[in-house]
Amino acid sequence: MATDAAALHEERFGETQRRDAWWVQPLLMGAAFVAFIVYATFRGFWNADYEYGHGTDVLPAHAYFLSPFYSPLLALPSWVPAFLGPAIFVMWMPAGFRLTCYYARKAYYRALFADPPGCAVAEYCKNNYKGERGMWAFQNLHRYFLYLALLLVCMHIYHVFEACRWPAGEGGMTFGMSAGTLVLLVDLVFLSLYVFSCHSLRHLVGGRLDCFSGGAHESRYKLWRGVTKLNDFHGTFFWMSLFTVGFADFYIWMVSSARITDIRLF
Ligand code: FES
Repeated sequence: MATDAAALHEERFGETQRRDAWWVQPLLMGAAFVAFIVYATFRGFWNADYEYGHGTDVLPAHAYFLSPFYSPLLALPSWVPAFLGPAIFVMWMPAGFRLTCYYARKAYYRALFADPPGCAVAEYCKNNYKGERGMWAFQNLHRYFLYLALLLVCMHIYHVFEACRWPAGEGGMTFGMSAGTLVLLVDLVFLSLYVFSCHSLRHLVGGRLDCFSGGAHESRYKLWRGVTKLNDFHGTFFWMSLFTVGFADFYIWMVSSARITDIRLF
């Protein structure tokens, strides 16, 4: 049976020929985005309960733990207003990386701006797409945020390393792990999977080459294939790493405020 394309043209906001529950995914994603933004902003301004262990006043007999929201931990000069904690000065890096992420753009354009709310669903502002220009030109900074994200991965590796160094007698340190170490380790794994599946990284390692054969080009081809495989799951890694970074901060908040105990495993 022939289809009249003109009859399938959706006009009003939300109008669609789709019969599936297309609105469930953007609704859940919108709720997750709002919940994370509210929580991260609150914790950024909370400016307390973000570290514990060796070298701090809280649980000094533990290995050192730092919330990923406060990493790298800055020592602020005294003239900085007290309500501006160190997290506010570092959060722009992961926030900028996630905000400009190619996957995240699709997700929050749909979930938060309904522009469009879903595939083949009429959008709120029609015929206004001008590309990522004007204010949206900042999305082009993603390739530069990638370099900062790679630095953050290094910082996370360092924090997991620190979380494995436990004070021993007579000022020495010994290897050990606690439940908190595993929380930071899982966060590191998902952050790394998210960063190493980035579209910009894929271009960085394999782009601008006409031919992959010979010498260093073959190494770049292998890297490109690895990033491409991970890239298939980039959206999943985005959400998993968002959850694990939030949970890691929450766990450290709970332990450092003495609401729960970080159990040492060995
Ligand atoms: Fe998502 Fe680069 S495209 S992190």
